[in-house]
Amino acid sequence: MPLTPCRLGVNVDHVATLRQARRAVYPDPVTAASLAELGGAEQITVHLRLDRRHISDRDLQILRQTVQTPLNLEMAVEEEMLRIATEVRPDTATLVPERPGEVTTEGGLDVVAAEARVREAVSRLAEAGIFPSIFIDADPAQIEAAVRAGARQVEIHTGPYSSARSEEERQAHLARIREAARLARQAGLRVAGGHGLNYVNVIPVASTPEIEELNIGHAIVARAVLVGMERAVREMVDLIARARA
Ligand code: PXP
Repeated sequence: MPLTPCRLGVNVDHVATLRQARRAVYPDPVTAASLAELGGAEQITVHLRLDRRHISDRDLQILRQTVQTPLNLEMAVEEEMLRIATEVRPDTATLVPERPGEVTTEGGLDVVAAEARVREAVSRLAEAGIFPSIFIDADPAQIEAAVRAGARQVEIHTGPYSSARSEEERQAHLARIREAARLARQAGLRVAGGHGLNYVNVIPVASTPEIEELNIGHAIVARAVLVGMERAVREMVDLIARARA
């Protein structure tokens, strides 16, 4: 039986990382989001971090006005972010853990440990008309807690699968992801996945029938830099040559 389609959500955070490396105005994640949509992205995802290291409040506001596909805001379970989300109203909000100083999101949100706080956040998001999703580890206890907290979707953390050091370890993580996806779907949740996925490792995850959405960022932005390099250099060479003509 053919599988139902799996949406690609493109995370444009690292376009903003490149901009912030020089505190410049380019490259603009807003432009990147439009181009990603032209390329077939079915969702745009951004993480407005508490330290604003890449995506800014301005980016989020403009993206809300310009993105034509659903906009998914990844956010910490913090009052400041809840206030911003309920004002800006992304289509989906994905609750993620955030640790100051971390290079990237390190694990799923521990819903079991913070159930009451997560439940309250989910309820505020849902009341504002935002589809509530929670980023969790591939762990049945977290799925059960996400259901109790009122989530409508879980995004399963694919980071441990992506960073596995051996084929055996990778297969074990894949089996966990697939079982978690099955349980989450059985519990009535929509199922997404993401973190660390790239052009080499995406296929086994994308072929998991219950996973309806994948959010991918770093690998796509990294590839865009490389596949666009030749043209970018040629354009600068031509410009310099024209100045000497
Ligand atoms: N999903 C979630 C919840 C994330 O926090 C991230 C990273 O911001 C991603 C997906 C995308 O991960 P990557 O940039 O490794 O593709």
